[in-house]
Amino acid sequence: MGKDEILELKDKIDFQNLPKHIAIIMDGNGRWAKDRSLPRTSGHQEGMKRVVDIVEATNNLGVEYLSLYAFSTENWKRPKKEIDALMKILVFYIRNELDKIHKNNIKIKIMGDISLLPKVPRKEVEKAIEKTKNNSKMVLNIGLNYGSRDEIIRSIKNILEDVNLGKIDKDDINVELFSKYLYTKDIPDPDLLIRPSGELRLSNFMLYQIAYTELWFSDIYWPDFKEEYLYKAILDYQKRNRRFGGI
Ligand code: FPP
Repeated sequence: MGKDEILELKDKIDFQNLPKHIAIIMDGNGRWAKDRSLPRTSGHQEGMKRVVDIVEATNNLGVEYLSLYAFSTENWKRPKKEIDALMKILVFYIRNELDKIHKNNIKIKIMGDISLLPKVPRKEVEKAIEKTKNNSKMVLNIGLNYGSRDEIIRSIKNILEDVNLGKIDKDDINVELFSKYLYTKDIPDPDLLIRPSGELRLSNFMLYQIAYTELWFSDIYWPDFKEEYLYKAILDYQKRNRRFGGI
């Protein structure tokens, strides 16, 4: 797609009806690489470039929250070489992009238990959170060692602990209170979930939060997910009639 066509697409977006929170399951890096007879890690490297592009594009549009699934609780099952490469790419991303992210007033948040990450990526992530903590234009919420079932079980344990400590009463537990125990406690539920790569599943991503989220799937592999696909997803979203269970 040419530059003019992309701008035309962008111009069609109704800025009064922008999704406040977009969540993305970045998938297809491995298949993108396989199609080119490249190692899977090349797919992840190219995928990282799309992270740079899409963070910039969402921030420019005025989207307030962007959640990205970068590493799941199940991704530890991958070969050590691939895990090491993913961690290196994460470190490279932060080292290269943090100043720009900060300048663009983006706040980095993490969903997932980062205490289990190797030391170097953990330190980089902690530095990024600390440096950007007072930023206010967009929240970049990265899922790292994140799994929705793990998050829900962790929340239940924390709620039980607070009930036992007398901080809350069993009868106080409702949808709103439960949300406050999730990693996303300060973040509204996603309005739009994007999953490229042709897979039609949720893969343990934000299951509690996406109860009323609009889903958008595409066959494009994540390393090919240029900004025009983001605009297409938003335009489709703007045609949806969201009822939240009402009529
Ligand atoms: C899924 O593709 C993708 C991942 C498990 C990793 C996503 C990571 C990045 C895009 C780069 C680093 C991220 C940040 C935030 C800097 P897959 O490997 O499952 O692809 P396949 O299904 O085709 O094998």
